Amino acid sequence: MDLQPFFQLLHASFCFFLVTFTLLISLFCLLFCVVRPKLWCNCEICAAYLTMSWSKQFDNLCDWYTHLLKYSPGKTIHIHVLGNTITANPANVEYILKTRFDNFPKGKPFSMILGDFLGRGIFNVDGDSWRFQKKMASLELGKLSIRCYAFDVINLEIKDRLIPLLSSIATGKERPVLDLQDVFRRFSFDSICRFSFGVDPRCLQFSLPMSEFTTAFDLASKLSAERAMTASPLVWKMKRMLNLGSEKELKKAIKVVDILAKEVIRQRRKMGFSTSNDLLSRFISTTNDETYLRDIVISFLLAGRDTVASGLTSLFWLLAKHPNVVSTIRQEANRVIGENQELTSLEQMEDLHYLQATVYESMRLYPPIQFDSKFCQADDVLPDGSLLKRGTRVTYHPYAMGRMEEIWGEDCLEFKPERWVKEGGVFAPENPFKYPVFQGGFRVCLGKEMALVELKTVALSLLRTFQIELATAQHRTPRFSPGLTATFSGGLPVMVLERQ
Ligand code: HEM
Repeated sequence: MDLQPFFQLLHASFCFFLVTFTLLISLFCLLFCVVRPKLWCNCEICAAYLTMSWSKQFDNLCDWYTHLLKYSPGKTIHIHVLGNTITANPANVEYILKTRFDNFPKGKPFSMILGDFLGRGIFNVDGDSWRFQKKMASLELGKLSIRCYAFDVINLEIKDRLIPLLSSIATGKERPVLDLQDVFRRFSFDSICRFSFGVDPRCLQFSLPMSEFTTAFDLASKLSAERAMTASPLVWKMKRMLNLGSEKELKKAIKVVDILAKEVIRQRRKMGFSTSNDLLSRFISTTNDETYLRDIVISFLLAGRDTVASGLTSLFWLLAKHPNVVSTIRQEANRVIGENQELTSLEQMEDLHYLQATVYESMRLYPPIQFDSKFCQADDVLPDGSLLKRGTRVTYHPYAMGRMEEIWGEDCLEFKPERWVKEGGVFAPENPFKYPVFQGGFRVCLGKEMALVELKTVALSLLRTFQIELATAQHRTPRFSPGLTATFSGGLPVMVLERQ
C-alpha cells in the first residue's frame, strides 16, 4: 500500500497548524503587550473604571466624570487605562480647539473607528480634505436662502405630519403613552433627508415601518461607537479581520447603508438637481465621485439627525418638569407673534429671546454631544499645566462643563433660562469655550443655525398646541444609552393632551 500521499497530507496539515498556531500566539502576545501596561494601572480612578464600581453611585459614566472633574483643582482628570485626559476647563478647551488647533486633530484612531461607516465625510477627516469640505459646506449652510429653505422644510414637516400625528393621539378616546424620543428621531430623520437630499423617507408616518435604511443607519452608528469602548483597538480590528460578532453585523449594516445612500444619489440625479435647493444637489454639481457623495450623505445624516432629536428630547423632559418656563414661552409667543397667530418668518423667530434662552439652557445641562475627543500630535502642555504625551487622547466634556460652579455659578444645576437673558429681555450668548455644545474654534458646528431653528420651531408649535406630561415617574436624572449622541435609555414616555 502506498502511504506516501497520506504522509504528505499529514505533513501539510501539521505545517498548516504550526503556522496558524504560531500566528495566533504572536497576535496574542502583541495584544497582551499593548494592553498589559494599561491594565496594570492601580490608581483609584482607573480601578473604578475597570471594575465599573462607579456605577454603584452614578447612573451614567458622564455623571461620574462630572463628579471627578468638579473636585479636581484644574478641572482636568486622567484615565490612564484609556490614555485619555478629560477636561472641563474653558482655557484648555480654547487651547485645544483654537490656539493649538493644528496639534489636536481628530487623528487616525478616531477616523479608523468611524472610517468604515463615515468614509471620507467631513466628520471623519483632518487636513486638506476637511478644509475643502468645510469650505463647500459653509458656503452653502451660511447662506440666508438655505436657512429660509430649512425653515420651510421644518414647518412643512411640523404642519403636515407632527401636529396631525400628535392631534390624533390627543383627541382619541384612548390616550396611549407615546415615546416622544422616538417621534423626534423620526421627525429629525425626515427633516434632515428633505433638507439635505430633497428625499422624503416618511418616517413620521407611524403606519409605515421604519425604513430599512434608518434601522441599518442606527445599527451602524451604535456599533461604530462601541468600537471606541473596547480596551484596545486591536480587539475590534481582530474581530473585523475574522468577520466575527459585532463586526460582522456592522459590515452588514454598512452594506445596506451604502446601497441606499447610493440610491438616494441616483434618484437625486434622475430628478434633476440644477433648480433644487437641497444640499446634496449643490454638492452633486461639483463632483462625479459617487463614494465621496455617499460619505457626504452619511455625514450630514449623522450630524443633523440624532443631535436634533437628542436636543428635543431633553428639552421636553425639562419643560415637563418646569411649567413656569412653558408659560413664559407661551406668553412671549403671544406678545411677539399674536395670540392664535402662526409663526411666519425667520425674522419673527429672532424676536423670541426667551425661547432661544430656553433652548440654550436645556443644552447646557443636556448637550446632545456630551464629550468630544481629539488626538495630540506632539507633546504639549495645557494652560492648566496638564502634560499631554504625543499620540494620547484629550477630551473636552460639555456635559460636565454645564455643571461647573466656576463657570455657571452656584445655581449651575438648576434649569434657569433667565441666566441667558440680559437687560431689555435680550438673549446674550456665552463664550463658546465655556459652552462648547456646538464645539468652537475652527471646527464649530456648521449646522448650528439650522439646528436652533429646528429646535425652536418644534418647541413653539408643540407647546402652543398641546399639553405634554411625563407618563411615568422619572428618575431624578435621565439614564443614557451608550452611543455617539446622548439618547435616553427607555425613551421619553409622555401623555399628549389637547390644550384647553
Ligand atoms: C442640536 C443640534 C446639533 C448639535 C448640538 C451639534 C453639535 C456639533 C458638534 C459638537 C460638532 C463637532 C463634532 C466634532 O468635530 O467632533 C458638530 C459638527 C458639525 N455639525 Fe453639528 N450639531 C447639531 C446639528 C447639526 C445640523 C442640523 C447639521 C447639518 C445640517 C450639522 C452639521 C455639522 C457639520 C457639517 C459638522 C462638521 C464641522 C467640521 O468638522 O468642520 N450639525 N456639530
